[in-house]
Amino acid sequence: MKLVHLSDLHFPVVLPFSSLKGKMIPGYLNYTFRRRKKYPISLWNAIVRKVNLINPDAIIISGDITNVSHWKEYDESKKILEPVLSNNTFMIPGNHDRYTEEATGYSGKEIPYYEKFFSPWMGETVPTKSGYLRIKKIGKLTLVGWDSNMPLSVLNAYGYVKEEIVHSTLEYLEKEKLDHYFLICHHPIWNPPERQESSGHRMKNREEIAELLKKRPPLAYLHGHVHTNWVKHPDPQKPYYVINSASSTRISDQRHQSGFHVMEWNEKQLQVKRFSYSEEQGEFTETQTISYEEKETNGR
Ligand SMILES: [Fe+2]
Ligand SMILES: [Fe+2]
Repeated sequence: MKLVHLSDLHFPVVLPFSSLKGKMIPGYLNYTFRRRKKYPISLWNAIVRKVNLINPDAIIISGDITNVSHWKEYDESKKILEPVLSNNTFMIPGNHDRYTEEATGYSGKEIPYYEKFFSPWMGETVPTKSGYLRIKKIGKLTLVGWDSNMPLSVLNAYGYVKEEIVHSTLEYLEKEKLDHYFLICHHPIWNPPERQESSGHRMKNREEIAELLKKRPPLAYLHGHVHTNWVKHPDPQKPYYVINSASSTRISDQRHQSGFHVMEWNEKQLQVKRFSYSEEQGEFTETQTISYEEKETNGR
């Protein structure tokens, strides 16, 4: 079984300045001046070509489709994503997709934009007392989606997942006898030593979550949010792969090793391959994974 993991697509959608409100204004200015030229649409077109060649059993997108959660960004992103949207697609939101109160549905009073546009590809909802838990089964593998995001001030981008969601996830997997699963969540559960996040950017309670996951660990934890790729191999503290495919559509530079991962699972082993954009060829080509083994990470 082959799975493609994409993340942090941050599509370059131009917005009328007059339509921006509140934190969207500094957010959009920041994006326009610092990021937009790093995200040419030609990289997305090259991803689509490569994904078509790979012909995967599942395409997983771990959030940050938009930049400031503007309705127009959602509308255009859906059109841009169209070539990869099928029964085999599984998407979760990132913090940029839950940027404002309006986009998140004013605390549950209205349908959030992400759900309005992408519900058919977000999996089935597992009922919980409160919170987001979505599931999609692909053959013998279950994909579990969490939402670690909430609208925050423009200076913050941290994440949080209620412990109750972890309990509900593990109970559901046990009840349904689903032994093999991937967990997909926008915020990292682990960072390489040289790419630690500040408390305003990281998932606040990730160590508590990691502790609870020990009861029934996933095969892999797929995420984005920090815009450089990595793969952590299973270790005693976190006995699963941690795979970061952010930011798949960005031009690489010294601080940002962009690309995406393809995982092959044969019901026993998981093999991870990385693809990055080659300027020379104008295509994504297989390249070395940026791997962290147990001895290097010392069980972090
Ligand atoms: Fe992002
Ligand atoms: Fe993010």
